[in-house]
Amino acid sequence: MSFSVFVTRHLTPQAEEKLNSFCQAEYWPMETPPPDDVLLEKTRRVDGLVCLLTDPIDAELINNAKQLKVISQVAVGVDNIDLEAAAAHNIPVGHTPDLLTDATADLTFALILGAARRLGEAIDYARSGRWQTWGLTTLLGESVHGATLGIVGMGRIGQAVAKRAQGFGMPILYVSNRPVPEIERELGATRVPLNQLLERADIVSLHVPLNKTTAGLIGAGQFQSMQPHAILVNTARGAVVDTGALVAALKSGQIGYAALDVTDPEPLPHTHELYQLPNVIIIPHIGSATRSARNEMALLAVDNLIAGLQGEPLPKAVYQPQE
Ligand code: DGY
Repeated sequence: MSFSVFVTRHLTPQAEEKLNSFCQAEYWPMETPPPDDVLLEKTRRVDGLVCLLTDPIDAELINNAKQLKVISQVAVGVDNIDLEAAAAHNIPVGHTPDLLTDATADLTFALILGAARRLGEAIDYARSGRWQTWGLTTLLGESVHGATLGIVGMGRIGQAVAKRAQGFGMPILYVSNRPVPEIERELGATRVPLNQLLERADIVSLHVPLNKTTAGLIGAGQFQSMQPHAILVNTARGAVVDTGALVAALKSGQIGYAALDVTDPEPLPHTHELYQLPNVIIIPHIGSATRSARNEMALLAVDNLIAGLQGEPLPKAVYQPQE
């Protein structure tokens, strides 16, 4: 008998081929996520679930999915999944770390450079016909080379960003629950408390997972500590930053610029005030969006799913029940 699996979006052709050769998979056909009631219904009688970070995999869904043997998320972050509910039902949960580290670190640097050198504004300036001459003081930005970079969260992606920063001659401060001696040794990075990092960094880049301790980590009090020319870069999760406080900080000049791959809410409604501000870059959560990274993530998610259906340990589990 073949396992039945619900997949909340189409995957890459290679990943679908592998999945289809192993089980009976139903794919949600739209680009937007299945509505909550549809997701609840579709998962009621399936053996496996492949989901994305946009799908709320909450306790109601997990309690309702009586046959579910494995949840496999195509992302490293799993803040959309109720891990306690999964654990209560002994359901392993897979995710896709490592494969997206370099893609996300590259995009972080694109945002650092884009904000510091005001690339969004410069592109609009040229496109809109305002480019009349070479101006000595036109579109002046901030130096990236030699600027102090503050990395909040020195996990895999934070470390990959730090390595790139070395090429730009950037002194590195970091916040982490634990020291990371190799980064201190190899890159001369210094571990400091968050308030010191915010006071000293020219560029602050966020690389923490979203959880109870990091939700709203950067709010009004933190913006007060930052320098008026400072740039905030967020490629982690939107809710790590208090959006209202960010708008206020950008409008009042408490900080200089923000570059956001992630927002709260997400997607950010196109009428949102943040889009009206000149000193913001907003892009639609594309940190890992390279062809190779997304294909490898989808393939790993399929491998996690197949292992879970077969009762084997997942290659990359964020939760694995113990025997
Ligand atoms: C993740 O994997 O958590 C990213 O946000 C999307 O790749």
